[in-house]
Amino acid sequence: MEARQGLMEAAIFLFLIQWGLAQQMHLSSSIEWHALLDLRSSLGIRGKDWPIKAEPCLSWRGVQCENGSVVGIRVSGLRRTHAGRANPRFAVDALANFTLLVSFNASGFLLPGSIPDWFGRRLVALQLLDLRYCSVNGPIPSSLGNLNGLKYLYLADNSLTGIMPFELGQLSGLLVLDLARNSLTGSIPSSFSSLRNLTRLDFSSNFLSGAIPAGLGTLSSLQLLNLSDNSLTASIPVQLGYLSQLVELDLSENSLSGSLPVNLKGLRSLQKMHIGDNGLEGSLPDSLFSSLSHLQTIFLGRNKLDGALPSALWSIPNLKFLDVSGNNFTGSLPNLSSNSSSTGAVFNLSNNLFYGILYTPLRNFSLIDLSGNYFKGEVQDDSSGNITLTRNCLQMIPNQRSLEDCIQFYARRGLTFNYSGASEQPPSPGPESGSKKRLIFILAGIFGGLGFIVLLVLVLVLLLKTCDKGIASQRGTANVGPVPEGESPGLPKDPIFQSGMGESFTHEQMLRLTGDFSEANLIKHGHSGDLFQGFLEGGVPVVIKKVDLKSFKRESYMVELELLSKISHTRLIPLLGHCLDHEREKLLIYKYMTNGDLGSSLHKVNILEDDIFQSMDWITRLKIAIGAAEGLSYLHHECTPPLVHRDIQASSILLDDKFEVRLGSLSEVCAQEDLHQNVLTRFLRKPQTSDQGTSGSSSAACAYDVYCFGKVLLELVTGKLGISKSDDATTKEWLERTLSYISIYDKDLVTRIVDSSLIIDDDLLEEVWAMAIVARSCLNPKPSKRPPMKYILKALENPLKIVREENSSSARLRTTSSARSWSAVFFGSWRQSSSESATAPCHTNRESISGSKQSGRVGSYGSGGNEFSSSHKRLSNEIFPEPPEIQDLERQVEH
Ligand SMILES: *[C@@H]1O[C@H](CO)[C@@H](O)[C@H](O)[C@H]1NC(C)=O
Ligand SMILES: *[C@@H]1O[C@H](CO)[C@@H](O)[C@H](O)[C@H]1NC(C)=O
Ligand SMILES: *[C@@H]1O[C@H](CO)[C@@H](O)[C@H](O)[C@H]1NC(C)=O
Ligand SMILES: *[C@@H]1O[C@H](CO)[C@@H](O)[C@H](O)[C@H]1NC(C)=O
Ligand SMILES: *[C@@H]1O[C@H](CO)[C@@H](O)[C@H](O)[C@H]1NC(C)=O
Ligand SMILES: *[C@@H]1O[C@H](CO)[C@@H](O)[C@H](O)[C@H]1NC(C)=O
Ligand SMILES: *[C@@H]1O[C@H](CO)[C@@H](O)[C@H](O)[C@H]1NC(C)=O
Ligand SMILES: *[C@@H]1O[C@H](CO)[C@@H](O)[C@H](O)[C@H]1NC(C)=O
Ligand SMILES: *[C@@H]1O[C@H](CO)[C@@H](O)[C@H](O)[C@H]1NC(C)=O
Repeated sequence: MEARQGLMEAAIFLFLIQWGLAQQMHLSSSIEWHALLDLRSSLGIRGKDWPIKAEPCLSWRGVQCENGSVVGIRVSGLRRTHAGRANPRFAVDALANFTLLVSFNASGFLLPGSIPDWFGRRLVALQLLDLRYCSVNGPIPSSLGNLNGLKYLYLADNSLTGIMPFELGQLSGLLVLDLARNSLTGSIPSSFSSLRNLTRLDFSSNFLSGAIPAGLGTLSSLQLLNLSDNSLTASIPVQLGYLSQLVELDLSENSLSGSLPVNLKGLRSLQKMHIGDNGLEGSLPDSLFSSLSHLQTIFLGRNKLDGALPSALWSIPNLKFLDVSGNNFTGSLPNLSSNSSSTGAVFNLSNNLFYGILYTPLRNFSLIDLSGNYFKGEVQDDSSGNITLTRNCLQMIPNQRSLEDCIQFYARRGLTFNYSGASEQPPSPGPESGSKKRLIFILAGIFGGLGFIVLLVLVLVLLLKTCDKGIASQRGTANVGPVPEGESPGLPKDPIFQSGMGESFTHEQMLRLTGDFSEANLIKHGHSGDLFQGFLEGGVPVVIKKVDLKSFKRESYMVELELLSKISHTRLIPLLGHCLDHEREKLLIYKYMTNGDLGSSLHKVNILEDDIFQSMDWITRLKIAIGAAEGLSYLHHECTPPLVHRDIQASSILLDDKFEVRLGSLSEVCAQEDLHQNVLTRFLRKPQTSDQGTSGSSSAACAYDVYCFGKVLLELVTGKLGISKSDDATTKEWLERTLSYISIYDKDLVTRIVDSSLIIDDDLLEEVWAMAIVARSCLNPKPSKRPPMKYILKALENPLKIVREENSSSARLRTTSSARSWSAVFFGSWRQSSSESATAPCHTNRESISGSKQSGRVGSYGSGGNEFSSSHKRLSNEIFPEPPEIQDLERQVEH
């Protein structure tokens, strides 16, 4: 009996619950029912998702009800009708009639148009608004500040414009404010410091400017603060250090300045510190990292930070990602092997001033980039592909800095440099371990993989193809090789040099000369072989290039040997001898160049005088420019077929005791590519020659050398080292900026780029200006508009003619033809004589050929003068490398 009653009660109970639920699940308001129908049609939602005959609260996808009222609408992910898809609009007026609506989520549902102002006045119950990826545009209505129940505001990934409304600061219950990846401008309103419950604030990737408000430091619940990729300025407010709950801080890619506040040590929960790509300065405070023990990723790359990395950094237990690249950090790297931080970590310390010996076993890292520093000594485990060590002072590693560079760097710190780091390590290894090391190298070479061999074969095939009219095909036939058509007057031949390949040495002799190629005698790892210092019997110093055929292609020394055995010129590095009897190691012996190369002697540290930098004087610089131009002019114009150097940079310009130029780095020399070359070969060459970008010409064209020479000239003018050897984005940017200061109308402009260590008077300044103008015309982006080397040589020999005649003639002719008169002075001789030399050997590319044909006509007009008819002007524009400003001026004059 009792049991029966119990059952009955239970049944009634269940019925009541079901009835109650049904009541809740039924839409009780007809206004809301109509509003839903409105919304359904204005957004074009398909009947499958929102079936018209079914109960919305039970069956419509994304519609959520409570007590018979709609409280949540999520249209994201719903499919649209054809009409709805064809014409999506921000048509949500019906929302205004859901007075109890708590959440509206349309993320990913296209709603082009702007957020209506009434949102802020009608949706009074709203707690969540998610319009991410909705193609919303226009400004954020300030009325949203009235939605005082709002907890989540997601408007990221749209095209919102205008400023961040100050009124949003009234949303005191807000937990998430995500406005990332829009086009918002203006500064971050200080009112946002009232958003006390905020946990996530993301304004990244907008166009925000101004300073970071110090008030953000009062948002004590904040866990994520992402302001990256804006244009924020000023320094990081110290108040941010109060954000003890903060897990992720991202201020990267702004223009923040000042130093990293030591107060940030208050960020005890921080796991990600991303402040890269700003303008932060100064050193990292020592105590900063001692309390940040949860850090996992640190990005401080590409700032202007300096000093040593605080030692506490290395004790952070879970640090897995560290990027401090592109700063001026210095000091040495401790032995990290006892700390877990190195195992499996990704460290980028590249492009800083770190130095000293590497103790940490690098294989522990999953990726480590130490390039562009001054680390020295040996590295045992560089075999992994994830270790980058280029541009250091390391032993037995390819692509390192020059010895001079390393010595200077260490000298500035009062340290002596030697490759082995002997002062800190046991003396350099004996011959046994040396050959062992060589063996390892060879094995590494072999196991470097088939890919390398395939590449080698490819390179070989291409080389044979492109050079077959030049050197390669003429092996062994002495009288068909490139022969000089004439010697430059006034330059006596080098007596030793006439013996062609020079003396032949035995391998045993060479071992004696170089102390068994001991590391102590290594000058540098060149890109075509290792260079050693040695002494001939009788104490004559020489430089010996060792080409190990396991590591270098055979061509690199063959080309050079063939070249130097067939041609001779005082402007090429004298070859004193060779040694080819060893099967694997081929040796070339050169005259020792007392003053090294241009790169190392432009600014020399004078160790006797307190490490003071001594800059080369202007007269010497001009002499070097002329000398190098002579060498190139010889290769381009006096050899048949014309030869292209292909590796002109400061380090290829060697200087003897009188600063006479001798061109080195001849292993890339090649006959100028001719235009009949088949398309396939040229196509195949493309990926191989990376230098086509800026220089705009194939590296096997004379115009390519001219371009590189232009960079050398700029290096002489500005004293900025390293321009001629790199072709990266920074260099291009620098070039662009620098060229804008070179104008034929404004001498004083050039003073802004002239090497500040040069002492020059007004007369010399004119020469500097002239050289800058020549450099500018060499750097013309169009290869066909760069002047041939022989005219560059003439211009450099008479620098004042370029600027002085320009001035006097412009005074005479006023504006009408002053532009042309400049080119007439610089290139008048070219016009005149290009008719004589229409058959000059260097004219093998398409443009030059047409140029030389036409120049015949130009020559017959007399020329050299300032009066050019308009028909000449067309011609002159084709063949003259006039700076763009002149062409513009001419255009203006014509109109
Ligand atoms: C629904 O009704 C219950 C009881 O009547 C009430 O406690 C609850 O707050 C109501 N919910 C809404 C959203 O009005
Ligand atoms: C809201 O409901 C009222 C009736 O109460 C109606 O007049 C109005 O058109 C509705 N608004 C929308 C946008 O559906
Ligand atoms: C909005 O809906 C999408 C898709 O269902 C979901 O991923 C997202 O988390 C929702 N937004 C919020 C704030 O819950
Ligand atoms: C902020 O959060 C606290 C604790 O969670 C809560 O008590 C307080 O009401 C919230 N403030 C606002 C304005 O919602
Ligand atoms: C900050 O935002 C940017 C761009 O929106 C994003 O790439 C980055 O990962 C974010 N940072 C963090 C720490 O989440
Ligand atoms: C490093 O210091 C040098 C010399 O002070 C300066 O020219 C250079 O811009 C600095 N580099 C960076 C990345 O701050
Ligand atoms: C390694 O970490 C420990 C603490 O975990 C620390 O005491 C030691 O100094 C760290 N080693 C280095 C080289 O920083
Ligand atoms: C670095 O430390 C590890 C472990 O303490 C040790 O085995 C290794 O020899 C050290 N390396 C050097 C070069 O001192
Ligand atoms: C190199 O780095 C990649 C990506 O970081 C990683 O997957 C791979 O395991 C690393 N290789 C080695 C040998 O550590």
